Amino acid sequence: MPVIAIVNRKGGSGKSTLAAHIAAWCARQGNAVMLGDVDRQQSSRTWLRRRDPALPAIAPWALDQKNTLRVPTGITHVVLDTPGGLHGFELARVVMFADAILMPVCHSVFDRESAAACHAELMALPRVASGRCRLATVGMRIDGRTHAAETLRQWSEGLKLPFLGALRETQMYVRCLERGLTIFDLSPSQAATDLAQWQPLIEWMTPLLNPVQAANDPTPTTRAVTPPTRLGSSRPESLMPAQESLIHGGRLSAYAATTRPASVPVQPLHKPSLPRAVNPGEVTQIPQFLKRGA
Ligand SMILES: Nc1ncnc2c1ncn2[C@@H]1O[C@H](COP(=O)(O)OP(=O)(O)O)[C@@H](O)[C@H]1O
Ligand SMILES: [Mg+2]
Repeated sequence: MPVIAIVNRKGGSGKSTLAAHIAAWCARQGNAVMLGDVDRQQSSRTWLRRRDPALPAIAPWALDQKNTLRVPTGITHVVLDTPGGLHGFELARVVMFADAILMPVCHSVFDRESAAACHAELMALPRVASGRCRLATVGMRIDGRTHAAETLRQWSEGLKLPFLGALRETQMYVRCLERGLTIFDLSPSQAATDLAQWQPLIEWMTPLLNPVQAANDPTPTTRAVTPPTRLGSSRPESLMPAQESLIHGGRLSAYAATTRPASVPVQPLHKPSLPRAVNPGEVTQIPQFLKRGA
């Protein structure tokens, strides 16, 4: 199960905006996506509540009977929105689950310095240093009339970090988010300029989010009756609570892929089942599995 996390220590750098857009793009590709806040502010959840149910579905965390936040059954792709100031053990926990980390960076020198410090911390983690968790930057809220994008490109390449281009500063993003939309939900003519700016990001994400399946992996239509049985299979249908997976020393997807009984049906890809919606008042903590000592 591909997991992509959006990380930057700086608040206001565009993490929630980027996370919502990636989740929406992924949903439009026909994937069963969960957009999960690791952020106490729950910005992504607020956005999800505004989203028209007729649009491609994006699931939030689900709460099980033990009030543990879980990835809902049927989900195949996870996007994690993270809070500003994420570092240390909490950052390492996110990295443990992420296949890729995208870092939105605004153009000021302070933004770059903060992002460089975050990059240095990430590179100290074996999963990132070894390339098992890929890392790239995206310029956010960039004024196309300035050299900001080029400055960011050079900065990023100086750190040997892939730079996936710059998204311009426009009220389109603000207005879309207010309505539970993304630019991917607009007509191509309305959003042509911005959609074009997303192309390099999409090209970078596509192989990550659509890993090549082995010949004997079940296809989406057969998954309901033939669950994956191999460790590391790329598309498990459900996840065990992460803390269990941590105890067992494996990543969630691998663990879950081996534990769901064959008789348990999965939900259709486009409409992930949500065991129980999480009410806003219930979300007083970040997911247990991402917390120290969970
Ligand atoms: N490309 C953009 N153009 C204009 N405003 C943007 C853009 N991206 C983000 N914003 C706005 O910037 C603010 C911070 O973005 P947000 O995604 O909430 O950042 P973070 O999650 O890192 O705190 C929000 O008000 C958002 O609407
Ligand atoms: Mg945010």
